[in-house]
Amino acid sequence: MTIRGVRAAYDASADAWAAGPDVMYAELGRALVASAPVPVAGASVLDVGAGTGVAARAALAADARLVVAADLAPGMLRHCAAPLRAVAADLTALPFRDGSFDLVTAAFCLSHLDRPLDGLREARRVGAAIVASAFQPDWDHPAKSAIDALLRQLGYEPPAWYAELKGTGEPQVGDPRQLTELATAAGFTDVDVRLVAVPSGLATPRQQAAWRLGMAHVAPFLQTLDEATRAAVHQEAELAISRADAGPLIAPIVLLAAT
Ligand SMILES: C[S@@+](CC[C@H](N)C(=O)[O-])C[C@H]1O[C@@H](n2cnc3c(N)ncnc32)[C@H](O)[C@@H]1O
Repeated sequence: MTIRGVRAAYDASADAWAAGPDVMYAELGRALVASAPVPVAGASVLDVGAGTGVAARAALAADARLVVAADLAPGMLRHCAAPLRAVAADLTALPFRDGSFDLVTAAFCLSHLDRPLDGLREARRVGAAIVASAFQPDWDHPAKSAIDALLRQLGYEPPAWYAELKGTGEPQVGDPRQLTELATAAGFTDVDVRLVAVPSGLATPRQQAAWRLGMAHVAPFLQTLDEATRAAVHQEAELAISRADAGPLIAPIVLLAAT
């Protein structure tokens, strides 16, 4: 996967992400930290692929002693306010010594790697434990389908990095059996992988539209439209979701907890 494409997309989307997807990812980040295989209170925590720092903030709220947020995209990290410490870094080549952290959190980022094993090995090197999440592949919700249909009408095509992610990293980490094998191959010995459904906190059509339109594979496309058209797309998206009678969104995810 082109790291440059991923970084550019997340950098360009950072504000839209913070105003949209962040709501849902914050709920998922809390669920992730609650599943940590070691006590979080008093721990040193590294949140890799931290984005706007939702899991990092959840670790702070759980009384972690020190939390570092690492991400490829400096634009996303700008939303990680103190006391979080933000470090721009590739999660497959982290600038930390062996055993620097009690816990590594990896929320929805291993799917962005062609070889998730590389990220898991690096987490194993710098941390004593990991808790990681991924979406179950091919999950759907009426709000997602409604926005995908609307975007197609506008001539949107998914960027190459996103199409690649769907074909490489996501199927590996979204599959409980493969994720278990990967974590074991990375050197974790006590590995637990489970499927869970987490209420997303996205209740209204407005929140659900902001979620879909703020994703990094979509927001850069919307930025190519003029402001009036963009506003019209947001309105149309809310209408499409209302018409789809989407209802609340429960996210089906795969959770890995390992030491
Ligand atoms: C789906 S977002 C999730 C962000 C955050 N963890 C959350 O749950 O909201 C994926 C994040 O992984 C980051 N990312 C992707 N590949 C990465 C890599 N090789 N190294 C570090 N970060 C990466 C992206 O920049 C993005 O911020």
